[in-house]
Amino acid sequence: MAKVKRIHHVAVVVPEIEGALAFWRDALGIEVKQVEDVPSQKSSVAFLPLGDSEIELVQPTQEGSGVAKFLAERGPGMHHVCLEVDNIDEMLDELKHKQVRLINETPLELEGRKMAFVHPKSANGVLVELYEITSL
Ligand code: CO
Repeated sequence: MAKVKRIHHVAVVVPEIEGALAFWRDALGIEVKQVEDVPSQKSSVAFLPLGDSEIELVQPTQEGSGVAKFLAERGPGMHHVCLEVDNIDEMLDELKHKQVRLINETPLELEGRKMAFVHPKSANGVLVELYEITSL
């Protein structure tokens, strides 16, 4: 059975990263590791490592993307929780057998990781992202 290892990150959608850092970096004092454009997600992401996990601030960079729609409809807020698993292919197979609704039936392969989203309808309204780290 595939195993969930840890919370990899919690993602928060914001209209612009610089403004959001006033809280996360300046008020809370969490350091920013890097800010990166992620064209595949049509967003810009600030990574703030925190112990074994990290906070990710996600700013949409393109109208009409999923993240942009989320921000337009609901305003800034928590977007998803990402769980690291030891084997994402196995985990997705097991979830399918357990009638869990998936947004990505097969993992997307990105640099250093494979990922897939579980539908919030199957996760108490929470958008859950799954990661398998493939290189460090
Ligand atoms: Co994420």
